[in-house]
Amino acid sequence: MKKLLYISVNSKPEEDSTSKTVARKLIDKIIKYEDSEVDVEEFDVYKEHIPTLTHEYFCGRNTLCNEEDYEELNHRARNEIDRIKVLANQFKEADIYVVASPMWSLFFPAPFKQYLDCVIQNGITIDISERKCKGLLDDKERKFYFVQSSGGDIPVLFKGMLDHSSCYLKDIVKFMGIDKYKEILVDGTGFTKEERRDAIEAAEDEIDAMFKIGKAIDKACEDSKEFMDKMKGYHKKLKKEDGSFTYRAKEDKDEEEPKEKESFTEEEEQEHKAEENNKENESVIKEEEKNHEEVVENDYPVDDTKKEPEEELTDEKMQSYERMESDKVLNEESAKEY
Ligand SMILES: Cc1cc2nc3c(=O)[nH]c(=O)nc-3n(C[C@H](O)[C@H](O)[C@H](O)COP(=O)(O)O)c2cc1C
Repeated sequence: MKKLLYISVNSKPEEDSTSKTVARKLIDKIIKYEDSEVDVEEFDVYKEHIPTLTHEYFCGRNTLCNEEDYEELNHRARNEIDRIKVLANQFKEADIYVVASPMWSLFFPAPFKQYLDCVIQNGITIDISERKCKGLLDDKERKFYFVQSSGGDIPVLFKGMLDHSSCYLKDIVKFMGIDKYKEILVDGTGFTKEERRDAIEAAEDEIDAMFKIGKAIDKACEDSKEFMDKMKGYHKKLKKEDGSFTYRAKEDKDEEEPKEKESFTEEEEQEHKAEENNKENESVIKEEEKNHEEVVENDYPVDDTKKEPEEELTDEKMQSYERMESDKVLNEESAKEY
């Protein structure tokens, strides 16, 4: 069972509100396509009590009072702190979030910001320690959908200037640790009934496409997984000589390798032994050839560049060489005589 928290940021009845009409269609689709049951809990920021945060609820930065300070507070303040904790925990429990909101003065209406300030609490949805902030909502898969309607058309290029709500929301949702964020922007609701109807239809088409494509992708993933499982069953992974892998159908492999015979005739056994001997001899020869190649490869020619530089021959040196040569001849001759 998944919990869907539907946060309505609109005091209008659903049939008069563009954002709420589109959000309802989205919720119906989520219920239809989610792979488990979905329990929808509605939270209307205009009907529910959302505390206005005042400084006495906090001790230190962003942290609600500890027990000691809490006891010092008056009854009303303690109730407000309790309420903040209830809202933050309710938010934390959800798996799917749908927010329906109009654009007001380039942002979403203020009660939703007041709500977010309540649910973004240290120790519940975020962790502030050692001068670092970290979202705690990455503990399970969560999806966040933001449906916003606006009177004007908002070209993508001017989104940063004309739509501060979706830019902000995307960041704050990510900050809390929710990685799946999707926005459905119902812009151009204009001034007439027709304009509003067209804007709703366009948004509903987008939702249809979103789920169809999403389902098609899921199906493709399932099909490929099934295919791979089949491949694993029918194919054998073989290591090639160069270290890479190849796949061979198991049937082929089975044909290549007939079952071993249990008994052999004497003749067959002798043949088998001869074959084994041949194989052994071949491998010895190959090994020797390999060693020989290695030796040849290692027998590098002498590097001439590393030779001692030749001595320069001066007259003096020539004379001493000549003297040495004549002494040598004399020595050899006297040696012969002797
Ligand atoms: C107080 C107020 C402020 C608005 N500000 C903007 C705005 O900044 N940009 C815009 O495009 N539309 C603005 N609109 C128009 C609404 O966003 C538009 O009518 C929207 O479709 C209302 O959605 P809803 O039917 O869900 O309430 C504003 C409307 C009101 C009442």
